Amino acid sequence: MIFKNRSKQSIKTDKAAVKTCLMIGSSGMAGQWIKNFTENFSDRIKVVGLCDVSRDALAQSAKTLNLGEDALFTDFNKACASVKADFCSIVIPPKFHSSAAIAAMENGMPVICEKPIADTLDAAKAMMHTSQKTGRPCTIIQNYRYVPNKQELVRIRQERRLGRLQYIVGRYASDYRGHLSWGKAWRHDMDFSLLYEGCVHHFDMLRFLAGGDCETLMGFGWNPEWSSFKHFSSGSYLMRMTNGVHASYEGNSSAAGITNSWNQEYYRAEFEEGTVELAGRDQLTIHQIGEKPKIYNAPKMPYFGHVYLIDEFLNWLDGGSASATHIEDNIKSFAMVIAAIEATSDGQPKQIADYLNDLDISNAAEISKSTLVHNPVTT
Ligand SMILES: NC(=O)c1ccc[n+]([C@@H]2O[C@H](COP(=O)([O-])OP(=O)(O)OC[C@H]3O[C@@H](n4cnc5c(N)ncnc54)[C@H](O)[C@@H]3O)[C@@H](O)[C@H]2O)c1
Repeated sequence: MIFKNRSKQSIKTDKAAVKTCLMIGSSGMAGQWIKNFTENFSDRIKVVGLCDVSRDALAQSAKTLNLGEDALFTDFNKACASVKADFCSIVIPPKFHSSAAIAAMENGMPVICEKPIADTLDAAKAMMHTSQKTGRPCTIIQNYRYVPNKQELVRIRQERRLGRLQYIVGRYASDYRGHLSWGKAWRHDMDFSLLYEGCVHHFDMLRFLAGGDCETLMGFGWNPEWSSFKHFSSGSYLMRMTNGVHASYEGNSSAAGITNSWNQEYYRAEFEEGTVELAGRDQLTIHQIGEKPKIYNAPKMPYFGHVYLIDEFLNWLDGGSASATHIEDNIKSFAMVIAAIEATSDGQPKQIADYLNDLDISNAAEISKSTLVHNPVTT
């Protein structure tokens, strides 16, 4: 089977066969991936190798996956060189994503990797260049795109049900005032965790909902004295997109009152003929002057979140359309995070093109054009 949309090289997989997987990461979020693979993909994915620096985590997950000692690794370079799998999943902290992904692709494996792409723009570019050089697909998880009300808002925009889109407001707020309340110590101790671990989802969402890439970004970040984070827990950013849509974003990991945490983020889109507010995963409210607010649930989706993305990736490996969040597209969301870090540090507006102009990503929209919006299933 030839991978579509990659002119330089192509590799073959056996369409009908169950795909073998080398998993890098075996606990934390990777534990959720293992659950997902065993519950939703047991007929399509067989894990044949598992890597984690924690021997306890390895031992625990090896039992669930029924793996012997020879399939377990503590070093991802050795794992990538030893295991011949159809693809590699990477679910470890961001600073290791790039070297693990490069090792996997250089050993012939397509990659599906958790967000954010990496910890630096150079590391993200190295990962993307390896995907282009080797011809191995590389996709990045952006699970929040694939929920019913976000898909519905994109349809409202694309079908012009409320005319043209003017601007979008996004709000994320989590009560992470206690140390370790955001899962792991590294999230509380690293610099710019709101941007790397939070905003990378929300900036990607603002691109998705707006239907344009970010052109200019500016804003501020800060750390309230009572924060459980060593570095900025909060920030406020403004964006202008390439299609003229504007966006503003409020992020707060020290929220004490109104929260809009994961899957409960608040988005409001101001259209020519009305306003759309999103709540949770399903609900939309449409406000139009002179009419009662129309509240309804978006059409259901057969798969959402990670399940959607894993299915989409497997289909790509079988010769289907590329994942919409393949690395050549998703690096545009990651560049927004890097631009926000720099804007926060020097107080100056940033042009996103300045971060990407050395990359060959002109084909990115073409690669993903058929998978931007999931076809709804009505109940
Ligand atoms: N998409 C989402 O909704 C979502 C949610 C949570 C986390 N994540 C992402 O998942 C990734 C992992 O986050 P986490 O909270 O599970 O982290 P974690 O600290 O729990 O680490 C996950 C696993 O990686 C292992 N690990 C650490 N360094 C390693 C290395 N060098 N080689 C091999 N194994 C190593 C750890 O021992 C652990 O078992 C991050 O990129 C994070 O942003 C995504």
